[in-house]
Amino acid sequence: MIDGFQKVLILGGSGFVGRHLCEHLAAHPWRITVPTRRLRNAQHLSTQPKVTLLEANIHHPAELQRLVAGHDAVVNLVAILHGSAADFERVHVTLPTQLAQACHAQGVHRLVHISALGADAQHPDTLPSMYLRSKSLGEAALLAASKVPTSPSNQPAMQLTMLRPSVLFGSGDRFLNVFASLQRLFPLVPLAGAQARFQPAWVEDLAQAIVYCLNYPHHTVGKTFEICGPEVLTLKQLVQGAGQWAGIANGQGRPVVGLPMWMGRIQAALMQLAPGEPLMSPDNLDSMRVDNVATGRLPSLKDLCITPSSVRSIAPLYLSTTSQLDVLRGR
Ligand SMILES: NC(=O)c1ccc[n+]([C@@H]2O[C@H](COP(=O)([O-])OP(=O)(O)OC[C@H]3O[C@@H](n4cnc5c(N)ncnc54)[C@H](OP(=O)(O)O)[C@@H]3O)[C@@H](O)[C@H]2O)c1
Repeated sequence: MIDGFQKVLILGGSGFVGRHLCEHLAAHPWRITVPTRRLRNAQHLSTQPKVTLLEANIHHPAELQRLVAGHDAVVNLVAILHGSAADFERVHVTLPTQLAQACHAQGVHRLVHISALGADAQHPDTLPSMYLRSKSLGEAALLAASKVPTSPSNQPAMQLTMLRPSVLFGSGDRFLNVFASLQRLFPLVPLAGAQARFQPAWVEDLAQAIVYCLNYPHHTVGKTFEICGPEVLTLKQLVQGAGQWAGIANGQGRPVVGLPMWMGRIQAALMQLAPGEPLMSPDNLDSMRVDNVATGRLPSLKDLCITPSSVRSIAPLYLSTTSQLDVLRGR
């Protein structure tokens, strides 16, 4: 702790959740370090006085140890949605494993890890996608590390909290914003996985949850929270909603046409070949074979003193003002 401030290292802090988290943390006595692969990826954080940005390779164990040193807590937000099995393994399993080792070596005990709803550390092999299996194996690695005691005190080495969000919406999301932009450009939306069910959570609620976990470790250590909104909606309802909430076609949105799975897989495979981040990959479709809805067996936002916000009330506030050009440029 320096000058009454604690120090938190946020891996993946330049991304969608990280941007909102840094804004929330600014109101609390935390100083923030955000490593990034390229400084230009994190330029939007450069105006935040409590944030220190630096370029680093977090996959390099020695570099990761140097980054972790001197912090009171670490938040891990690094994840990918698309890639090969080896990519998922490297980002979702090897990185958390090395992060636990770095924390152990540097005596940094507090770790908040953001996983994903649908992950299951006990039964990773039963899950339908590389994304969910690798997220589960990452959780399992951290849970195992959190049980290793430190000598001589024999205290557990790590005070771990894990959060599993459903799909996230909010200002700057690449979910509802993209589906709204597509409806500005095209007269209808062909959609694979239209009947998949989600329980979307507001990114601000997740950011607030992470801050709560950092500020109140005694209430949250050793627990896994499901981060979900109040409503269960199908993907088709969400895509239709995106058009309506963005005010497209006089607030009606465009027609959304469900595609059979085989056609969706062809569409997703073709999308993967296009340059840039694909909107949908075959692995995303595999993830959607199981509902992305809270099990109810784990604590939730309410246990973190947060009343979850509804997508219907929040999305119109930002979708109707988002510039289509910014979304397509990935801003
Ligand atoms: N967004 C959602 O709807 C959603 C839903 C469920 C769970 N989650 C989870 O919430 C967490 C945060 O998600 P997010 O939407 O904020 O993600 P994001 O916007 O994609 O940001 C992730 C950050 O991780 C870093 N990163 C990405 N790939 C990397 C790699 N190969 N090596 C090193 N760093 C890499 C990037 O930082 P630099 O480019 O600066 O290096 C990026 O800004 C993740 O764990 C995600 O799985 C998100």
